[in-house]
Amino acid sequence: MTTEGFETGSLERASFEYAAHPARVLFGSGTASRVSDEVRRLGGTRVLLLAGHSVSAAAEHLCSTLGPLLAARFDGAAMHTPVEVTEKALVVLREAQADCLVALGGGSTTGLSKALALRTDLPQIILPTTYAGSEVTPVLGETSDGRKVTTSSAAVLPETVIYDVELSRGLPLGMTVTSAVNALAHAVEALYSPQANPIIDGLALDAIARTARALPLIARSDAGPASEAAGRLDPRADLLRAAWFAGTCLGGAGMGLHHKLCHVLGGSFGLPHAETHTVILPHVMAYNDPAAPQAMRRIAEALGVEDAPSGLFDLIASVGGPTSLQTLGLAETDLPHAAQLAAAQSYPNPREVTVDGLESLLHDAWQGRRPDPSSPRSAADSGPVSAAPDTSSLTEQVVASFEHAPDQRVRQLITSLVRHLHAFAVENDLAQSEWQHAIDFLTRTGQICSDTRQEFVLLSDTLGVSSVVDMLANSRTPGATPSAVLGPFYVAGPPETQQGADISGGLPGIPLWTDVRIIGAQDRPLGGAIVDVWQSNEDGFYDVQLPDLDGPVLRARFRTDDEGRLRFWSILPSPYPIPDDGPVGAMLAAVGRHPYRAPHLHFMISAPGHRRLVTQLFVAGGDYLDSDTVFGVKEALIVDFAERHGRTPDEREVGGAWRSVEFTFRLAPDES
Ligand code: BEZ
Ligand code: FE
Repeated sequence: MTTEGFETGSLERASFEYAAHPARVLFGSGTASRVSDEVRRLGGTRVLLLAGHSVSAAAEHLCSTLGPLLAARFDGAAMHTPVEVTEKALVVLREAQADCLVALGGGSTTGLSKALALRTDLPQIILPTTYAGSEVTPVLGETSDGRKVTTSSAAVLPETVIYDVELSRGLPLGMTVTSAVNALAHAVEALYSPQANPIIDGLALDAIARTARALPLIARSDAGPASEAAGRLDPRADLLRAAWFAGTCLGGAGMGLHHKLCHVLGGSFGLPHAETHTVILPHVMAYNDPAAPQAMRRIAEALGVEDAPSGLFDLIASVGGPTSLQTLGLAETDLPHAAQLAAAQSYPNPREVTVDGLESLLHDAWQGRRPDPSSPRSAADSGPVSAAPDTSSLTEQVVASFEHAPDQRVRQLITSLVRHLHAFAVENDLAQSEWQHAIDFLTRTGQICSDTRQEFVLLSDTLGVSSVVDMLANSRTPGATPSAVLGPFYVAGPPETQQGADISGGLPGIPLWTDVRIIGAQDRPLGGAIVDVWQSNEDGFYDVQLPDLDGPVLRARFRTDDEGRLRFWSILPSPYPIPDDGPVGAMLAAVGRHPYRAPHLHFMISAPGHRRLVTQLFVAGGDYLDSDTVFGVKEALIVDFAERHGRTPDEREVGGAWRSVEFTFRLAPDES
């Protein structure tokens, strides 16, 4: 074991080596249909298809896609690529006079294809169905007489990889999680490898961030309402891309303690491969943390957490992955032997590997103990800690610097802000790395903002600040209808529309008849009030999120009639997630929160002599009323959107069931 060549203290790698392993990659949804073109591109005319029973439907489909190019099929691939199986497949290959290999499946099928390519030099096309990543490495691990032999050779590197997201969509949640964490381990260990380089770093961090973003979404859609099915974010595409990048990390940098330990636990104790990786990885990260602090900080950032080892442990636990070696069937009495075996051989690792250190690591992993972010992980950290220094005079100095601010309100706000910020740092004994993390988070929040994306508003909304400010401004007039957050989807100056119109623009959905009244003090009807309405479509999108849509849809400006009444048609609004592919989404995932809003209609109502009311009506019985991600729901705004059949109020033919909502908005007088 050696610790040379690891982190040097600077984030920028001054010099490095990088070797690319060229492969042609097709990535996307439905890309498997292009397999025949790819076979011909490689000069193939007779394909041996390797595909096991677990992928039978996809294999049948591939057979018919290949048509006359298909010469034979072999379905006997096995774990760890036993040489006996390869020999059986070789017989089939030779009988069929195959000149091209096509492999559809997980790591075992890819392994068999590589073993055949090593012996025949035939070109390979791999269609992965799991997140193994081995399809982009020149490495083959075979077993012969129970011994594992690893070969690294350009001959085993597949020529073409077809990533078709549809092939991984049906992978059960359990396998999805363990196979994704198995891939993640390649990215993690590449970051502190002696062969680390900026290209691999970039791929590794991207793979980690995608995995952290995708797994909770997949777990949620497997358990409940399908965000995947709604087709908005495709976490399966994220995960497949992560697996590809992580596989590239495995091919581009040497692996360390984690891989050694998993190899021992699998090889000598028969533990299942991907599950073992899933349990062990957070503990190896905790072990290596003191010796690879920069790598861990970058991993933590990519995961969107404060501390990488405990953050990964939490992610795995939150998506139902295995967290203890005990549940994988390892006996506690085997731990000392496993530690000895793993410490016996020499291999690179940032922190020196000792038998005692490994035993303690394995005990934690056996018990399923969460890595403790607060316990010191390095010898240097474990010295005596003195009491927190007194920072109060520094705070007073900063406050005094605002004394001459010309605007009294500015002085008050900035003084209070600084006092709260200093108190926050002191109360939490804030570490420099934590503050840096906060600064990086805010930097990313700024960077993602554009004309059509306001991440700071989302941050304010999801932290409840928008609702607090809204309540402060608008909840001081008893009797007035409560307000609710504006949100980012309001567009000023919506099209003036006649009462009774249908604002759905023909979009599909359950027809909704809205019949509201606007009143002021003493229940006086407010005729001529301007009412802007906007809402999401059936899939939970606003028109501004749908670039293909022509013109404003599901938004309009109306005027109330003399009785203060407004009636119009639209469609029933759906629950939807706020944009969660940025830092705010990462923050929600890090705290285990979902990004959904309860279904609602937005209103902005203005009438002379009255305070403008910005509010929403929520669909009674709708999803997420109790956990609206921007804390916008108020009891008085939850309304029955009653189901109706038959004749409509304006005799419009809607052909089937429809809904109606009635409500009276009371505006507060404007006393300013
Ligand atoms: C909305 O309801 O449109 C909304 C509000 C806050 C954040 C995101 C969306
Ligand atoms: Fe909304």
